[in-house]
Amino acid sequence: MITIQYLKNYEEMSRYVATLVSIRIQSGEPFNIGTPTGGTPVGMYKELVAKNLNWNKVHTFNLDEYVNIDHQHPQSYHNFMWENLHKYVDTNIHFPHVEYDTEIGAAGGLDLTILGIGTNGHIAFNEPGSEFGSTTRVVNLSQQTIVDNSRFFDSIDQVPTQAITMGLHTIMKSRQVLLIAQGQKKLDILKKALWEKVTTEIPASILQFHPNLRVFYCD
Ligand code: F6R
Repeated sequence: MITIQYLKNYEEMSRYVATLVSIRIQSGEPFNIGTPTGGTPVGMYKELVAKNLNWNKVHTFNLDEYVNIDHQHPQSYHNFMWENLHKYVDTNIHFPHVEYDTEIGAAGGLDLTILGIGTNGHIAFNEPGSEFGSTTRVVNLSQQTIVDNSRFFDSIDQVPTQAITMGLHTIMKSRQVLLIAQGQKKLDILKKALWEKVTTEIPASILQFHPNLRVFYCD
């Protein structure tokens, strides 16, 4: 059975995951990492930046980006990554596009992917109903995701309704996956995804089949 590693608080979880990532960066080996946005990873990026590492051999592959949003928009994922990581480190930056899986493959595949989880069980923007064999593509965001993400926008009608996202297959091919979640509101879906039936209705449940998955949770 998959275990959920409970951390004392958000700072502890952020520090723990940042340390795991930094060990890989410090090894000096080429390192391809799938990078999330959203509220949960902010602390982890802060910890990583504070470590002053050499990111020259690292390639960051973002999980997703909204469609029809200016990259300069404060809530675009390009801007999120710039503000939280890319402006501080000299790394090789990649964002999703139609040939993303080919690009990832040509780079040697993802060594490690960090994921958050949506309250509906999405990972990246693979919403309920996504095929397990899916690759990078444009998707419609579910109403639940639009509502959840409206906290970052002035009003709900400003939330984009589509995104381009790595697929479930893209994620499953990553050699290692770290899933991070914070708050009671995530606990139910986390337990369902990891400990109940594997179903496309809960996209994160596919992670039960991943051979190298670690899950971190804090209240
Ligand atoms: C973001 C992403 C999403 C988020 C998820 C949780 O790049 O891929 O799957 O990880 O929506 O978001 P937060 O952390 O804001 O609760």
